Amino acid sequence: MLIPRDRRHALSWAGKLLAHNRPTWSCVSRRSVLPTATISPRRFATVTPETPKKPYYITTPIFYVNAAPHVGHLYTMIIADILKRWRTLNGDTEAQLLTGTDEHGMKIQQAALAAGMDTQAFCDMNCKTFGALAKAANMDYNYFIRTTEPAHKDAVQYFWDMLNHRGYIYTSKHEGWYSVSDETFYPATQVQNSLDPTTGRKRMVSAETGKEVEWSSETNYHFRLSAFQERLLDLYKTGFIQPSRYDKDIIKSVSSGLQDLSISRPTERLTWGIPVPGDETQTIYVWLDALVNYLTKAGYPFPPGKESQLGWPADVHVVGKDIVRFHCVYWPAFLMALDLPLPRNVLVHGHWTINHEKMSKSTGNTVNPFFALDRFGVDTMRFFLAYQGGLAGDADYDNAYIIRDYKKLLQSGIGNLAHRTIGCSKKQLRTYIVNGTTGGLPPAQEHDLAFERIVQETPAKVATHMEELNPRAALQEIVDLAEKAQKYFHAAAPWENQTERQRALYNIVESLRITGILLQPFMPTKSKELLDLLRVDNSDPSKRSFSAAAFGSDLDYGEGVKKKILFPQLIVED
Ligand code: ME8
Ligand code: MG
Repeated sequence: MLIPRDRRHALSWAGKLLAHNRPTWSCVSRRSVLPTATISPRRFATVTPETPKKPYYITTPIFYVNAAPHVGHLYTMIIADILKRWRTLNGDTEAQLLTGTDEHGMKIQQAALAAGMDTQAFCDMNCKTFGALAKAANMDYNYFIRTTEPAHKDAVQYFWDMLNHRGYIYTSKHEGWYSVSDETFYPATQVQNSLDPTTGRKRMVSAETGKEVEWSSETNYHFRLSAFQERLLDLYKTGFIQPSRYDKDIIKSVSSGLQDLSISRPTERLTWGIPVPGDETQTIYVWLDALVNYLTKAGYPFPPGKESQLGWPADVHVVGKDIVRFHCVYWPAFLMALDLPLPRNVLVHGHWTINHEKMSKSTGNTVNPFFALDRFGVDTMRFFLAYQGGLAGDADYDNAYIIRDYKKLLQSGIGNLAHRTIGCSKKQLRTYIVNGTTGGLPPAQEHDLAFERIVQETPAKVATHMEELNPRAALQEIVDLAEKAQKYFHAAAPWENQTERQRALYNIVESLRITGILLQPFMPTKSKELLDLLRVDNSDPSKRSFSAAAFGSDLDYGEGVKKKILFPQLIVED
């Protein structure tokens, strides 16, 4: 790239900045509350360890709008939503959930071109589909961010300026293999020859993702990523990456050395992005732009003293394992460079595969999430994805698995148990509940006590899994309770055993009420139906909150309970 000598902000300023306190250009942020002349980046970004109470803050990745979403995106949305709804269940009404779309970069620029559309119109169109998916998934999000929003552009340019103030940006010639699909450079050691399966054309691909790479040689801005090796390695010791199995590769790669990161592309190659402040010839690298979205929503640049008001630092970034490096290496390093507080955790999940190959927009082996939601219902999909989806590994997607789980665990499981319990109680359920909560039941046998213990212990186990960011294990615990309740039901045979009927039915209906409460983050609609069915008061939120998920704690439910099918026959079955 040729750099005109007379350019107002020559690329060499970054090096000079190391020796100066103040930049040679004015700060571009329109949102900054400080006048440009008084900006003191260090003061601005100082972290106080005793961060004041802040809203719990959860994020999903912002998804590329190059193509329509698939079940993998739906999964991430649902996992993040379950974490958010778990907070709500625990009485936290302030928790924040952010999702949105990543609309800049070469990948989008090329996709719009291929579609023959104006790039912004293309983004507007595809962004709507992701927004529609978040709604169809019944996601209780607080904000849907788009990286083409003006506020985001300001935040990114301000962020860039601050990195620059601190001397973390310099220019140099960069040569390497760039993958547009992955929006990343790969070193020569991480690419290999391959034949395009459809055309037989020889090409270079990333060894990790199999995506095509192209050689690029250009002058651009770099971030001093190499300066953060030790601090990053220390960070990983704190359990930053969850589940911990995902930290192995990252620790290995960071330990083996970090190269500085190219963080801009020449405008002649990439126009669709945020310009480097003061240098119209360069566009900010899409991943730097994208990661800052988490700060934009939190009100960055922060007015002094109000850093945590809107939630920063994030408590959990939920991401797929394909983008761990960006979230666990680049992102914390950028934040460290500005002394900004680091997110507490990155929760990584595995991939949904089809025939054991990653479901992916660019490969095209996707399942349309709208069809799946229509066919099986939103709560069945939320249940299935959370129950079978791999946090620690991958999971293979097949309609037959959804049908199998629906029938076994929901229809014949929880649904049938509720039906039979109500049937067997012969309109006496309320009496049993009154006797149960006032000590008026027949004496407990050993197997009654054993089951009561399970009901008593389940909520705490669920809570522990959720606090450990493991919604899958939490849901397994709930399903386990329903399975044990069924076994207990069969052993107690309340339809024939008159003496034991009362206690068994009381214990089971308690397990169902607690199941209904605990299921709310996972299946918001069906759990409500179950609690409504049991006539658990809906006007008093405390009756359906986590604290009510304690054995014997609700004295008032069960009046006039009538049978209802919770999980009807699926209309279409493979
Ligand atoms: O990477 N299984 O966007 P993206 C499970 N814009 N989850 C999957 C999946 C699969 N097969 N495929 C995708 C980007 N996902 C960037 C993110 S964040 C600052 C920028 C989910 O559209 C998973 O969460 O390629 C994955 O990390 C994300 O979608 C990638 O979405
Ligand atoms: Mg992707």
